[in-house]
Amino acid sequence: MRASASAPGKVILIGEHFVVEGSPAIAVAVDVRARVTAERAEGELVTVSSRELGEAVFGPSAGEGPLYPVYVAAWEVVKRTNQRVGLKLTVESDIPPGAGMGSSAAVAAATAAATAKLLGLPLSRDEVAQAALAAEVIVHGKPSGIDPTVSSYGGAIYFKRGEKTERINADFGQVRLVLADSGIQRSTGALVAKVLETKKRHPEVLEPLYKAAASLAEKARSALERGDFATVGELMNINHGLLSALGVSNSKLEELVYAARNAGALGSKITGAGGGGMIVALCWREDAERVARELGKIAVRVIAAPVSEEGVTCVLEG
Ligand code: MEV
Repeated sequence: MRASASAPGKVILIGEHFVVEGSPAIAVAVDVRARVTAERAEGELVTVSSRELGEAVFGPSAGEGPLYPVYVAAWEVVKRTNQRVGLKLTVESDIPPGAGMGSSAAVAAATAAATAKLLGLPLSRDEVAQAALAAEVIVHGKPSGIDPTVSSYGGAIYFKRGEKTERINADFGQVRLVLADSGIQRSTGALVAKVLETKKRHPEVLEPLYKAAASLAEKARSALERGDFATVGELMNINHGLLSALGVSNSKLEELVYAARNAGALGSKITGAGGGGMIVALCWREDAERVARELGKIAVRVIAAPVSEEGVTCVLEG
């Protein structure tokens, strides 16, 4: 018998970085997914394998390497059962890694869900996100939890650290999200640390920006609920300006952001940690192809990503 789970990647529409220090943020799940299968194995070791990253075996002592967070997400679930079990976990992901689309969080959420299903432990969406967050701490250092939460919930969420996550009732039928990859690799953990250091050096300057980001999230939430995407786009542009002020933009990201706006996007901004990775453009459905074509001339990859209403899903097989 094995359990198979899948979880979506994400796009942050408003509030990355600010969310780490308690501002609210808005994220949507997108239909580019990670899949994990979990099977019982002899003994008490956990084998994790991935086509891209090879295979690694983990036991109770601390491990390392790119597959270790997968083990941690599974172990968070195993711990709750008071059993000692061996597992074989197989990971596959269509989400580009290190690009701002929440690939590690989606893998961790799918891992937690598959492990729980295999061991017969019912977990809520918040509990799946919680187990995945333990893995994210290893990957990113000081994550807010927004990435595993949106991956677990699906749809659009309003997220504030330490508070109950709310689903936003929004209809994305008339719009498309177009993502363009700068191709610049970066570390989310390092960028989060850099922003926090800047805030420590200049609290009186940056605190008003954090207040502004919180207002952006409140306004964007009500604009999404009434289907006012022109306003959502405008707020995303303002959010991009705040992220530039935090120091997480660069000339390539600015080029992509302005190319999207010049091609007719309603709004465009860095999405995720910045420093490289992706920008997101919000477009009317009929403009998305033109925006994607223009971005395609200067990006290493362009993804038109439909919003995924479905969060983490899991089935038992065999
Ligand atoms: C990363 O997708 C978003 C950040 O705000 C970090 C986090 O919230 O964990 C940069």
